[in-house]
Amino acid sequence: MIIVGCSTSKDLARKIARHLKCKYMQLEVKRFPDNEIYLRFKRSVDGEIVILVQSLAKNPNENLIELTFAASTAKELKAKRVVAVIPYLAYMRQDKRFKKGECVSSRIMAKILESSGIDEIFVVNPHLHRYKSLSDIFSVKTNLISVAYKFADYILAKIGTKNTVIVGPDFESYRHLVEKVARKTRCDFTILKKRRIGPKIVRIFSNKKIFQNKNVVIVDDIVSTGGTIVEVSKLLKNAGAKKIYLFVVHLLSEEAVDSIKKAGVSEIFSTNTVPNKSSKMIDVSDIIASALKKYKSHS
Ligand code: R5P
Repeated sequence: MIIVGCSTSKDLARKIARHLKCKYMQLEVKRFPDNEIYLRFKRSVDGEIVILVQSLAKNPNENLIELTFAASTAKELKAKRVVAVIPYLAYMRQDKRFKKGECVSSRIMAKILESSGIDEIFVVNPHLHRYKSLSDIFSVKTNLISVAYKFADYILAKIGTKNTVIVGPDFESYRHLVEKVARKTRCDFTILKKRRIGPKIVRIFSNKKIFQNKNVVIVDDIVSTGGTIVEVSKLLKNAGAKKIYLFVVHLLSEEAVDSIKKAGVSEIFSTNTVPNKSSKMIDVSDIIASALKKYKSHS
């Protein structure tokens, strides 16, 4: 078994290998002058279980190509099994033909990944809205890794549960995040109602009167434009919240952080599925390593 760090997730991959005490290799990736990609495995993968770690955040198209090229190459070089750990899986929000003629990108992204020969996929908190699970779009084995209990541990250690309410901005945040965080912290929770008007504009509603003088922890899977969290924070401030914290799994845009802070969020925590300098980083390498333990006997 060998963990291979692709371009976007080298540090995370190295940490996973350290937890598993197994071999690590960095994928060599370069650009040709015309911007085509070049990649190379610097050691043999013949007969190995190859675990490729590549987040699809920020430059999803480039990162997807790199991952599929790496997977296909590993197969050609006679890897025994090719496993993709995708800390952030892009395109999952495009899960429906909203307008006539639109591409349902999530389904095609899944087909592209599978066509590269990947045998199994691990994803950290994929965005599941209209799909119930990743197996709605993938036919290879998929595994969902949830950071919910890790978030709960941080809330217990850094924020405390006295006077604390957990808030999910929309129904999708409930199943794999808010419900689990609330259960482990034993905090009250509520799920707000969200209506999306456009890619950058959302409206948030709540008829609950439970925020007065409370510390509120917003828990969500993705910050992209930041529009959702800005609207949630405004609602919470108007409802008398004392302090507002944000726990987000994938912070896709650091530019969103300023407006989120201006809207009243005092601290932002996010995970190293998308490394960034604008929030307090929560390392999730240990839970990814635990999910991969079944391969340990092959290392
Ligand atoms: C959507 O349902 C997700 O859970 C996030 O709330 C959403 O993607 C955040 O996007 P933005 O930051 O652009 O509002």
